[in-house]
Amino acid sequence: MTDPIIHMEGIKKHFGNVIALNGVTFDVRPGECHCLLGDNGAGKSTFIKTMSGVHKPTAGSISFEGRPMSFDSPRDAMEAGIATVFQDLAMIPLMSVTRNFFMGREPKKGRFVKRFDLDAANAICMEEMRKMGINLRAPDQAVGTLSGGERQTVAIARAVYFGAKVLILDEPTSALGVRQTSNVLATIARVRSQGVGVVFISHNVRHALAVGDRFTVLNRGQTLGTAMKGEIDAAELQDLMAGGQELATLEGSLGGTI
Ligand SMILES: Nc1ncnc2c1ncn2[C@@H]1O[C@H](COP(=O)(O)OP(=O)(O)OP(=O)(O)O)[C@@H](O)[C@H]1O
Ligand SMILES: [Mg+2]
Repeated sequence: MTDPIIHMEGIKKHFGNVIALNGVTFDVRPGECHCLLGDNGAGKSTFIKTMSGVHKPTAGSISFEGRPMSFDSPRDAMEAGIATVFQDLAMIPLMSVTRNFFMGREPKKGRFVKRFDLDAANAICMEEMRKMGINLRAPDQAVGTLSGGERQTVAIARAVYFGAKVLILDEPTSALGVRQTSNVLATIARVRSQGVGVVFISHNVRHALAVGDRFTVLNRGQTLGTAMKGEIDAAELQDLMAGGQELATLEGSLGGTI
């Protein structure tokens, strides 16, 4: 098996008296989709924030491409190649798809000359979206006129275009209908096949099972276990998320890891 891109070991995070994470171990390898499941308040968002440089862990260690690493800011993590697509997507609805695609990365010395080259940017944006299976009517179309699933795809496409090695998606399908959900799941599968390690956070076990290679369930800041694809079904995952009432019966399927 290939080495993980990022490995988080025994991560703890305390906010005053609140113990949000109490020793979480998690990794992601190139070309896999590792799903992080858990009920409300389980610690999913806190965990990905420690992975993406927003929070410093209270205890535990992070290694990135085999070397010890500590991220001081989200920018640090981003520069290492960890891209996070948060649920609100941080897009400006009235701005064009292209402008959103390049937001914060416009003219850079050496990359673009002096001025933002809109024609070149439009062409890149159209092409990158096409690769993700979306044919834009026009690159100057406002992002606000796209569907929720298409907006998710813009966010994913730009992360991949700018060199993400790890792509973290926080509940990308929770607000979407069936058709848009399947488009986003197809996008995840495409990104994974390009060698990116995807961390997919979800409440929805069916969405997770549709694209996941590994599944880790968080409960009250602790991992209840990790299962490989084919080792666990929807009902078992659902039970685990609910706190593992049926731990005994699940132990077999999880190989005794719970
Ligand atoms: N900045 C903070 N200060 C204090 N407590 C926090 C902070 N952030 C998170 N928590 C607490 O940590 C716990 C885990 O929260 P977190 O947001 O990580 O859960 P989650 O699994 O993402 O839940 P949801 O599915 O509802 O998004 C909760 O009890 C929450 O109240
Ligand atoms: Mg959350």
